[in-house]
Amino acid sequence: MGRITLEGVAKRFGDVEVIPPLNLDIEDGEFVVFVGPSGCGKSTLLRLIAGLEDVSDGRILIDGKDATDESPAKRGLAMVFQSYALYPHMSVRKNIAFPMKMAGMDQAEQDRRIEAAAKALNLTNYLDRKPGQLSGGQRQRVAIGRAIVREPSAFLFDEPLSNLDAALRVGMRLEISELHNRLKTTMIYVTHDQVEAMTMADKIVVLHAGRIEQVGSPLELYLRPKNAFVAAFIGSPKMNLFTGAAAAEYGATTIGVRPEHIAISPTAGKWQGRVGVSEHLGSDSFFYVEDTGLAETITVRSDGEVNMHHGDTVWLTPTEDKIHKFDANGDRIQ
Ligand SMILES: Nc1ncnc2c1ncn2[C@@H]1O[C@H](COP(=O)(O)OP(=O)(O)OP(=O)(O)O)[C@@H](O)[C@H]1O
Ligand SMILES: [Mg+2]
Repeated sequence: MGRITLEGVAKRFGDVEVIPPLNLDIEDGEFVVFVGPSGCGKSTLLRLIAGLEDVSDGRILIDGKDATDESPAKRGLAMVFQSYALYPHMSVRKNIAFPMKMAGMDQAEQDRRIEAAAKALNLTNYLDRKPGQLSGGQRQRVAIGRAIVREPSAFLFDEPLSNLDAALRVGMRLEISELHNRLKTTMIYVTHDQVEAMTMADKIVVLHAGRIEQVGSPLELYLRPKNAFVAAFIGSPKMNLFTGAAAAEYGATTIGVRPEHIAISPTAGKWQGRVGVSEHLGSDSFFYVEDTGLAETITVRSDGEVNMHHGDTVWLTPTEDKIHKFDANGDRIQ
């Protein structure tokens, strides 16, 4: 079981309140992703849950039991970091066995768990190698293996893939999702990567200066961001935000339109501008349109065959029912 509840959890370092009191419920078996700008408190929150930092206020419940004062080892959670910190002189097998050996587990049980973890992570053929003889992705899998053998009630991942190159990241992302499908163990996962957040999460928690801005499924956050911060944070490329007359026309202080919800035409439309940079990716084209008088640049995403280039005069038309409206506080209107 791995239900985690934060009740009024706050963290101060000296006089600095990094996390004002917050509440959060993580259901057993859920895949929860924490996102937010650098320094917003994602790692701190994860470390509070793991017990690597003490809370300044509030309670942490694991499966309904107060674990606030429990040591990290007693909480039954396993943490996987960005820097996987394997022991270079030990084989993969010994690295994976390490936490079990420290706990004094009997050898037969250790072997059973190593076999199972190696199988789940496609490491069976690498058990006798040293970390130096592995690729980055394989090393990260060993670090995950070391977490799996503890049979934790939840996994806590802090940007586990950020040291890997793009292709490996995609592979590992799928592997972690498959692992979650198989183990059905609660996972809390911190990432900067939009695609990881959108594709892996059952539930995304958007943090900003230690506060929770919104909790919801990836699509809820994409379709109905609660405020302009979430609107701008979720989605890549970012949502276009407009103020002034463009927003007033819709009865809002700020309006937001995602790049994929703006049509681009060489002949007719609502807003006139000129193509600055154009990026042709094959699958998509991105246009950064300038001189509209509405915003410095407007990002437009269209299909890969749209063929417009730097300097072209273009017309943009937002899809009316995809326009997000925000009031003077940045809160969603309606
Ligand atoms: N031990 C500490 N003492 C004082 N301040 C700290 C300590 N650890 C973290 N902080 C501060 O707490 C804030 C949150 O840090 P944290 O590492 O949780 O951010 P983060 O969201 O994980 O950022 P990143 O995305 O860059 O990893 C930062 O302002 C950081 O400087
Ligand atoms: Mg961090």
